[in-house]
This record gives sequence, structure tokens and C-alpha cells, in this order.
Amino acid sequence: MKFFIDTANLDQIKEAQALGVLDGVTTNPSLMAKEGISGKNNVLKHYVDICTIVTGDVSAEVIATDYDGMIREGEELSELHEQIVVKLPMTKEGIKACKYFSDRGIKTNVTLVFSAGQALLAAKAGATYVSPFIGRLDDVSTDGLMLIEEIREIYDNYGYDTQILAASVRHTMHIVNCAKIGADVMTGPLSAILGLLKHPLTDIGLAQFLADHAKANQ
Ligand code: E4P
Repeated sequence: MKFFIDTANLDQIKEAQALGVLDGVTTNPSLMAKEGISGKNNVLKHYVDICTIVTGDVSAEVIATDYDGMIREGEELSELHEQIVVKLPMTKEGIKACKYFSDRGIKTNVTLVFSAGQALLAAKAGATYVSPFIGRLDDVSTDGLMLIEEIREIYDNYGYDTQILAASVRHTMHIVNCAKIGADVMTGPLSAILGLLKHPLTDIGLAQFLADHAKANQ
């Protein structure tokens, strides 16, 4: 399973990259705003900065909601850097734009997906990635992981190439369960990725090894 980090924070992206397990980055307008990135030139520069830190795909989301605007913005984003993936909302216009970009070999990520039907449409439009938001579904008492299972089954039935990018991941068990179900990618915060490292028995075991080594080498 690929690991993407879901942030526009350059320090966190660098930290995840330094760990050696990072495959890409996802951003969205809220994450960009959280970092105080505003104004078209600053936004575009920030995407390029992210691309220079990581080696994998970097999702950059269009702001336009009409087809022509999405095409204009998406083309500009994709020309920024070869790692850019054009992120499009799961709307009628977004699906049309997804087809436009996939026909031209430009990578896409269809975002804000909350149902299997939406994921089926994204695959038919040739999306590179589909982003079901599992955490936001869990927030409203709906099983986000079950949606990943449904999409996996549908994509496997027909051999769709679209990669299931489990988004809105909140914690380590989301990651582990997505891996068990067969999500192709997960995107989550640095805390969830680093959380995978933790086990008290690892800490106790290491302390014991070091103590025994010190005793033997006094
Ligand atoms: C996906 O690409 C989104 O950026 C993201 O995962 C949303 O997560 P949130 O629900 O934590 O905002």
C-alpha cells in the first residue's frame, strides 16, 4: 500500500520523506489555507516546493466548479511539475473534467467521494485515484471502511485501474484496516504514520537489550 501524507505543511512533508516510506502528498484548499498559503502565485509556488521534497505524486485541487474553469486550472496545475495530479471534486463537471484529463494522459484524483456509485463513475471517467473520505463517514455514524470494501469489490469485478486512495484517515487502525481490505493508497496525517511505529513492548525490549549490553561491557 502506498503512503501519502495529507498536508501542505513543508516541515511535516520533509519529516515523512526522511522516514523513507512516503509515496506522495495530498493537499486540499483547507490544508493550503491552514498553512497561510494564499494568492495564485504563492499557491502554485507551494505546489512546486512540495514536488521538490517528495518523489511521488502530489495532488493539487482545482477551485473552479465549472467545467471550463476546471480545465483551465487543471492544465495550469499539471504544467507546473510532472508529479502534479489534478484533484477534482466528485460533481458532474468534475467527472467531465476527469474524462478530459485522463484522455490526455494527465493524472487525476477524484475527491469528496462518499458512495460506491460515485467511485464507479470516477473509474469510468478514467480517474487515476479515487478518494473515499473514510474519517468523515465515520464522523456521521457510517462505516468508512465498508465503503473501501465495496469499491475494492467493484473495481476488482471489472479490472478498473483507478487506485483506491483511502482519504480522511485519522489514526493508525484506519491505516491497518485499509491495508487489510486492499486500499491501494492511504493519505493521512503525519501523526497516524508515526503512530504505526509505537508499541510498548518494543520500547521495553530495546531498553532491556541496551541495559544487558551495557552490563556485559562495563
Ligand atoms: C483528501 O485528499 C483530503 O485532503 C483529506 O483526506 C480530508 O481529510 P479530513 O476529513 O481529515 O479533512
